[in-house]
Amino acid sequence: MNSTIEEEQVTMTETNPSADEQPIDGEPAAVRALAEAMLEEMRSLHALRSAPVEAAFKAVPRYRFAPEAPLEEVYSARDAVITKRDEHGVAISSVSAPEIQAFMLEQAAIEPGMRVLEIGSGGFNAALIAELVGPSGHVTTVDIDRDVTSRAGELLEATGYDQVEVVCTDASESLPGDDEWDRIIVTVGAWDLPPAWTERLAPGGRLVVPLRMRGITRSLALEPVDEHFEAVSSEVCGFVQMQGALGHDERLFLLLGKAIGLRFDDENAPADMRSLDGALATDRRVEWTGVTMSAGESFASLELYLAGTLPHFCLLATVPGAAAEAGLTEDDERQFRLAHVDDDAFAYLLSRKRDDGRFEFAAAAFGGGAERAAARMAEQIRSWDALRPDHTAPKITIWPRGATALPEGFVLDKHHRRIVLSWTERT
Ligand SMILES: C[S@@+](CC[C@H](N)C(=O)[O-])C[C@H]1O[C@@H](n2cnc3c(N)ncnc32)[C@H](O)[C@@H]1O
Repeated sequence: MNSTIEEEQVTMTETNPSADEQPIDGEPAAVRALAEAMLEEMRSLHALRSAPVEAAFKAVPRYRFAPEAPLEEVYSARDAVITKRDEHGVAISSVSAPEIQAFMLEQAAIEPGMRVLEIGSGGFNAALIAELVGPSGHVTTVDIDRDVTSRAGELLEATGYDQVEVVCTDASESLPGDDEWDRIIVTVGAWDLPPAWTERLAPGGRLVVPLRMRGITRSLALEPVDEHFEAVSSEVCGFVQMQGALGHDERLFLLLGKAIGLRFDDENAPADMRSLDGALATDRRVEWTGVTMSAGESFASLELYLAGTLPHFCLLATVPGAAAEAGLTEDDERQFRLAHVDDDAFAYLLSRKRDDGRFEFAAAAFGGGAERAAARMAEQIRSWDALRPDHTAPKITIWPRGATALPEGFVLDKHHRRIVLSWTERT
């Protein structure tokens, strides 16, 4: 999640258990201190906003849902505990970061007595939901991976949350039972929304889902309005990718051996990427934009703006050290992942600190048409800036695939839906 100029440095207070500290309710004293520090950090990150969600975090012992991990990792507010990797070492299952779990639960606005479906199991989040719905509610958690459902089921039982129903299924194809759900919370990165998720929402229901839009993931709280859905909130997040029928692979093009990659998440890669051959051997062109941000200010909406306006938008990935070695950055510059390909050139976002302490954005580019590619990106950065201060976050609406009467905005087509990002109509 690379959408603030300077990542905030947060220091975690670690407390070693001393002989005279007594455990509360069987909980090791070290856990208590780490859990308190984690909650404090989540409040300061504004991830934890309501008394019920905070009470749920206090009630559920997180360390018992990640018994294999060191306590400091388990209680790090911004880190997930990876519980399974694929044969290439890519994480495919985890207990999500507390910060993300908290803001998604806040987005879901769960009330006592509700029926809630969690897609993607880890155990801990389902236990938090069980606390929120209380004894009159119902929680089902589903996962495509039997190892994950077995583990989650055992951990939920061992911690006294055996009322949570755990089901193994590919949630993009079928959801258990025939009942409707007041809330569906998807805890795995989705590229599209299958019909099952919206058909099974109860009237007045809400779907919370981390949706990938050209590689940029936002956790959206979606509510139905006539035949479409509107996002009533949006949060920056990152998730392991969905497997099964809704799995969607990115297309990755490698430059300079394997040191630099351009990742396209939708069907928007140029037909022929060979035009970029030798691009990195050309001189770098940079257009400074005059658009500035203060340290710590979020530019999350710029990510979506560029994703919507640049036809061949992609994400630039570099192996450590490669950006400077390949000449992508110079001394005081920071390179971001936002990029686009423009015929025989590619451009990407840069920033550097100015004398007044603010950070200025630039578009840098390589290739035959580097000047043009940088100018196109710089133009969009300036037009995004013109929307500030009031127009930074787009209104996001989601329409059936066949819908033609759409609001004004950038349209991203998926297999089942059309997503519209509108900077003109705002929430
Ligand atoms: C981040 S983990 C879930 C974290 C969990 N909610 C927790 O307690 O923190 C994502 C899970 O989604 C599961 N998953 C991936 N694709 C799926 C699919 N199509 N249907 C159901 N589960 C899926 C993965 O197996 C993985 O266990």
